[in-house]
Amino acid sequence: MQRNEQQWADLCCRVRCLVPRELGENAWYLIITAALGVCPMPSATAAFYTYLTKHVSEFSSENSKEHLSKRLRDVILKLLTIVGGPQVLSVLIPLAAAEGDIKSKAASSMLNKKWASDRINVQDIYDRGQTTINTIYGGRLLEKVFESFGSHKEDVKFQEIFTLYGLYLSDFEILTPIETEAVVYASISCLGLEVPGKWHLRGMGRLMGARGTYNDSEEMSKIVGQLIDLKQAVESVVGFVGDDFEARARPGEWATPAAVMKDLGGWGIDD
Ligand SMILES: *[C@@H]1O[C@H](CO)[C@@H](O)[C@H](O)[C@H]1NC(C)=O
Repeated sequence: MQRNEQQWADLCCRVRCLVPRELGENAWYLIITAALGVCPMPSATAAFYTYLTKHVSEFSSENSKEHLSKRLRDVILKLLTIVGGPQVLSVLIPLAAAEGDIKSKAASSMLNKKWASDRINVQDIYDRGQTTINTIYGGRLLEKVFESFGSHKEDVKFQEIFTLYGLYLSDFEILTPIETEAVVYASISCLGLEVPGKWHLRGMGRLMGARGTYNDSEEMSKIVGQLIDLKQAVESVVGFVGDDFEARARPGEWATPAAVMKDLGGWGIDD
């Protein structure tokens, strides 16, 4: 995928403008990374890193490159829960190559101490996963989703809570909870999976403070407007990559806030 400097600049400018401030000042590049990480051209993320570090002054110093690299790695690791190992490694290897000095960096790479066997606690990981998944879904929708698993319920529920949410999506060492949810929303939408996309548009709204069904408060219309902006930001990345990605992601079918109201009965209430 070849895009020139001006095309990358236009994409960044558009996404920066659309991504709601509430998601954090730097959520824009996480969202671009999350969407590119799902696209049919796995080297797109490396190309994005190269653009940022060569042409955007805020990413030009060694410190800021290192910081960016850690944040992109965290997005890519979180994508393991969305796209799995083969795609993630196909994204990571070109990124490492774009960062340069691969061999010496691999030689000095250190495992984060949080993975030491005497620090890992299954119950703690399960509990933090439960807290996060409840924040995103609210208890009632979550119970409905789990019920729909039939005979598979308990084992799959355990994996959702312990592995996907506990291990990955509740690790807020690098990304904040709202940045993490933005990454999940963007990447799931780009898989063209309408129902999980809708759950996570709802989750995004919940993290921004939406509750209950539609009301004409200023707060509600602000959140709904921001969700539409976020959706457009992710659509911009799909359009930037082009036809193959459009065909997979099918942005024309992505859930809207109106569909969250209609199909899921709104944003849920806290139990
Ligand atoms: C209206 O919606 C907002 C955002 O979801 C919520 O905080 C507020 O409590 C709601 N107001 C009423 C009267 O339901």
